Formats: sequence, structure tokens, C-alpha cells
Amino acid sequence: MEKITDFKVDENLRHIAFIMDGNGRWAKQRGLDRPEGHKVGVKVFERVANTCFDWGVEAVTFYAFSTENWKRPPAEVKTIMSLLSFYIDKCGDDLIKRGVRFRMLGDKSALDAGLRKRIDSIEQRSKHFNKTLNVAINYGGRDEIIHACRLLAQSGEEINSESFSRALYTEDCIDPDLVIRTAGEKRLSNFLLWQASYAELYFTDVLWPDFSDDDLKNAINDFYSRRRRYGGL
Ligand code: FPP
Repeated sequence: MEKITDFKVDENLRHIAFIMDGNGRWAKQRGLDRPEGHKVGVKVFERVANTCFDWGVEAVTFYAFSTENWKRPPAEVKTIMSLLSFYIDKCGDDLIKRGVRFRMLGDKSALDAGLRKRIDSIEQRSKHFNKTLNVAINYGGRDEIIHACRLLAQSGEEINSESFSRALYTEDCIDPDLVIRTAGEKRLSNFLLWQASYAELYFTDVLWPDFSDDDLKNAINDFYSRRRRYGGL
């Protein structure tokens, strides 16, 4: 796959969020089991994250596992969880070398205690870095909003847009400017419901395991062709 090295974003595009859809279809098209699509999907996730940082994007967010994904066949859930676990084990040193902060978005309570501990550890080790990699695991936008309401109710803090944003899993992370969804569906599927309020949405038929640097560049160029008005004129 062609790597594009001579491309840069500007300050209008600081955060890109990805809905990585189409792993199952990609595998099926090749006569493989669905988990095989997820295995390739992880490699694409790592490449796309690094490409974004190389091009000057400050924050990237990837939707890896939703609160609804537990309904999938147990073998598929197990594969995704073990891919996540494997990634968490090996990503630490590389993220630190690259100056990237890792943050998990989602409800950690349903995760295996060992995995949770390793996620906490990489979050702690990397928390002073400026670039951000958010991975949404056991994440749902509605669940996140309810979680934030509970936190604010418990703390008694005044509720306003700023305090609410800070109480979300994304905490102080800037909102996404662009949300990219692969594999043809045109919906947010409970992803970053609060944070994506003003994001530009980009949908492509390309399946996630096929998503290339060129596809990313096309999405970014499409973003630059739009005028963001934030409700103004
Ligand atoms: C959507 O494709 C993909 C997912 C629900 C899981 C994505 C997870 C990964 C790529 C692995 C995560 C691991 C890390 C380290 C980020 P789908 O299965 O819904 O595809 P389909 O719509 O074609 O069935």
C-alpha cells in the first residue's frame, strides 16, 4: 500500500474520528471468517493513526467496540477483545516514543480486570503528551452522556457546556472536526453524540481493511471543500 509522506493538515483539522466498519464483509468476500477481517482491521487502525499524526493531526479517535457489540457471537467478541488486549500490551513504548497520549473511551467496569489495569497503566504513562489516541471500547454515546450526568450530580458541580464536556470520557480532548465512516452505512451508531455536534461527516463505501492513505487524503480534501458555519452565516 502506497504511503503518502508529503501531505499536511492545518489548524482547521485537529481531530479526526473513525468508525471502522466493514471488517466482517471484507472477510466474507474472501471466504474467510469474520474475525480475520478484524485482524487486518487492527493493522489498518495502527497505520491510519500513525499517518494522521505524521500529517499533523493532533487527536484521533477510533470506535473499536460498542456497548452493543457484546451481542455478537461469543467467538467474535473474544477475537476483538484479544486483539485489543494484544494491542494494549505492545503499544506502550511505541506511543511514548511518538509522544502520543492513549485514552480509552468507554465503561471499563465490564472489561477483564487484567486488561483494565494495563489500560490504566498506559493511560497514566502517556498522559502528559499532546498528541492523543482515543480508542472507544465498550463505548456508547448515550451511556457516556448518562455517565457524565451521574458524575456531575455526585460532585454537585455547576452544569454547563464546559463542565459537561469535561465529565465525558473524552475529558479535555478537543471535539472532532471530521468523522469518517467506512463501508457504506450513513449513521453515527451512538458514536461521540455530544462531541460530534459540529463535526463534518464523511462516508465512503471502502471497507475498513481496504482503507488506504489515499482514501484518508480524499476524506481530508473533501473536508477542506466544505464551509463550516457553526450555525452562523
Ligand atoms: C466493524 O466491522 C468493526 C468492529 C465492530 C470492530 C472493529 C475492531 C477492530 C478493528 C479491532 C479493534 C482493535 C484495536 C486494537 C483498535 P463489522 O464487523 O461490523 O463489519 P461488517 O459491517 O462488514 O459486518
